[in-house]
Amino acid sequence: MKFAISALLIVTALSVSAFGADETAFPQILRKLILENGFTPAKELYVNPDEGLAPVGKVIFESKKLSLNGNISCQTCHLAKFGSADGIPNAAAIAGKGEGPERLLSGAKLLARNTLPFWGRGAKGFTTFFWDGKVDFSDLKRFSQFGSHPPSEDPLVVAVHLPVVEIREMLDEDQFVTAHKVESAERAKEVYGAIADNLRKFEPQASESLASYLKKPVAQLAYVDYARAIAAFIRLEFRLKETKLERFVKKSDTLSPEELHGGLVFYGKGRCITCHSGPHFSDFKFHAVPFPQLGFGKNGFGVDYGRFNGTLDPKDLYKFRTPPLYNVQKTAPYGHSGSVATMEGAIIAHFDPLRLMDLSSMDPVSRHEFYKRMTLSSETATAVGFLSVSDINDVVMFLKTLSF
Ligand code: HEC
Ligand code: HEC
Repeated sequence: MKFAISALLIVTALSVSAFGADETAFPQILRKLILENGFTPAKELYVNPDEGLAPVGKVIFESKKLSLNGNISCQTCHLAKFGSADGIPNAAAIAGKGEGPERLLSGAKLLARNTLPFWGRGAKGFTTFFWDGKVDFSDLKRFSQFGSHPPSEDPLVVAVHLPVVEIREMLDEDQFVTAHKVESAERAKEVYGAIADNLRKFEPQASESLASYLKKPVAQLAYVDYARAIAAFIRLEFRLKETKLERFVKKSDTLSPEELHGGLVFYGKGRCITCHSGPHFSDFKFHAVPFPQLGFGKNGFGVDYGRFNGTLDPKDLYKFRTPPLYNVQKTAPYGHSGSVATMEGAIIAHFDPLRLMDLSSMDPVSRHEFYKRMTLSSETATAVGFLSVSDINDVVMFLKTLSF
């Protein structure tokens, strides 16, 4: 309802301007829309209970001893120079060399998904993690593969438990892993135990500091303790900072005419705000948007059922978490499989996906698959209004005001 009124306000303002009326009201209209749709200054979103653990967390985050074969660290894929992602479409995991694009070319095994960045992760209101929300602590839920006994009440700490036990991602199929592959809480515990042993042995200094911070003997450090340290590092290092948009909302900064127009499109006919809302520019809900699929896909043969994989509810087929948009400028390529190289392309994927694809060169199975995704994405394709080239360029300019 609120949205409908606001949209009406824009339509009125724009038609008034067509008759030569005062455009000086636009900044005020945009400020009002931004505030009504959940914008919150960066500092008000900070939560840093374990700030003292961040330096230890940094060492562990960068340590290849987190992977049992010593081949890969968190930093291998989450790199500062690619905005805390890796700059490639599908993450390049074990059995490779180097980082990001270099790793991709080195014969690494590929993951099905695009690496997510860390901006604002674990801040207030950020409780749903991964493309398909496989860790979801929103609305008092405790959804994760740990069932009713998550290792922590902090969803970021729970999320940090996943990459290290994911086969292909950080685990190799060696003898130990094969023996522990049967899915059971007991077996997973043993893998976490082996990783903690590894860290105690090969990262003695960081382990000492962690133990002394937590006031327990080094011998009793468990993976959850290391995970708390990594989470503290991610929270602090990648926390949101003041942006041009925040300064505009606080009235100390003006926007260029393009940024201003882009903002009005974002909140108006683009209807971006129906999903990219709230303090992180995400509703943390799941929607089907017809981004082209790239790579093997989580479900194999170019298929990724997204949220459905976690819930098995047919209503969730092809749905992915609305991506938060802070620093989106730094995290190309875009979409769950990194199939779109530019921000312009990412916007087009919402309302005119065929413009990005060469259907005749696709194999028939992938084409059939895409038709199904398009049908189930019709909600989005019809919600987002048609945007001209200059609308798209201006929305991109507006999105860049979310960089820091
Ligand atoms: C091989 C590359 C790779 C490595 C290594 C890796 N990640 Fe990731 N990371 C990814 C990909 C790909 C995703 C998105 C996966 C998905 O959502 O299905 C992701 C997502 C995440 C997310 C979720 C962010 C969000 O917006 O919900 C967190 C948190 C994370 N990784 C932390 C870590 C930590 C901590 C480590 C080390 C223990 C690590 N990652 C190691 C590739 C990697
Ligand atoms: C119906 C909900 C919905 C609407 C409306 C919507 N988006 Fe999205 N957006 C999503 C989802 C979901 C994705 C991820 C889709 C995927 O990866 O398959 C996404 C992806 C994106 C991305 C890529 C981000 C990344 O990190 O990969 C950008 C940029 C973006 N949207 C901007 C916009 C803009 C600008 C508008 C308005 C023109 C808009 N969106 C409208 C839900 C929506």
